[in-house]
Amino acid sequence: MNRLIIDCDTGIDDSLALLFAGLRKDIEISAVCSVFGNCSAHQAAINTMKILDLIDYPDIPIAEGENKPLVGEASYAANVHGNNGIGDVELPESRRELSPLSSVDLLLKMVRENPGEYTLVTLGRMTNVALALEKEPELPRLVRKLIFMGGTIYHEGNVGPFVEANIGGDPLAASKVLSAGFDAIQVGLDVTQTTHLTTDDLRWLKKNCRRECEAAVDYLIEALKGYFRFNHEASGMVDCCPVHDPLALVMTVAPELGEVEYWPAHVETEGRYTAGQILIDKRLHGENWPKLGCVLKVDHRKCVETILREFC
Ligand code: RIB
Ligand code: CA
Repeated sequence: MNRLIIDCDTGIDDSLALLFAGLRKDIEISAVCSVFGNCSAHQAAINTMKILDLIDYPDIPIAEGENKPLVGEASYAANVHGNNGIGDVELPESRRELSPLSSVDLLLKMVRENPGEYTLVTLGRMTNVALALEKEPELPRLVRKLIFMGGTIYHEGNVGPFVEANIGGDPLAASKVLSAGFDAIQVGLDVTQTTHLTTDDLRWLKKNCRRECEAAVDYLIEALKGYFRFNHEASGMVDCCPVHDPLALVMTVAPELGEVEYWPAHVETEGRYTAGQILIDKRLHGENWPKLGCVLKVDHRKCVETILREFC
């Protein structure tokens, strides 16, 4: 069983990731920690509760997290994810209650109670994790692994020439986390921007999903409309969108669908165009940076099919 603590900024692709994880029999979502990004941390926590309701997921701790980066102010991605983070789809109010703990404190409580038990999956800015590290420098040894959606190695960025939104949204946090000694796997734009969910996939899903998943599928179809539009305007994609956050979950449970290369890696924290850029050093006698596992290839179609299958 993969016991996951998912830290996310529940937007459209985060919600598909949560649904996929919630439906997988070999995943237990043990807790969800929210963070600002696609929307505010509060909105992300509310969205998480509503999304888990769609599949009747058991009552698990859901905490509200940090609402701004370690340095500077937050900006949200309403142009991509709508004003409420989930494509302006109105879902029913949830009866779940937020954890009284912050995301940082919930994360620390859980990993201290069950050291080595949880895999930490981050799908947004790494702000919560960086603050948790300040309180508990042993955090990298208390979790099994860190798998994160973020950054890019060779593919162009989505908020700068080589900068991706999750890392660019809090470069200092990412720099602290990726130099702290986690066994870390990066799932970045090299593979997420090139893995596509298509309108045909959605039509197929609508036709083939099982009854208990109908509400979730209807939500996805509605929420993804604006997301498809944005990706058409921003990247020229036609009738499809990239698969960012769900791919990090696929790599967590089906790593054989990807190829990982380990390289010394470093996050730039400064520079008008470079803050948030992940650099790898491939020189034989290069910098002595901590090694990062970078997923640089995936079987795109099998990954998408792995996600869709869970709804059927
Ligand atoms: O760059 C894509 C990432 O930024 C995804 O995690 C998306 O949800 C946003 O957080
Ligand atoms: Ca996200």
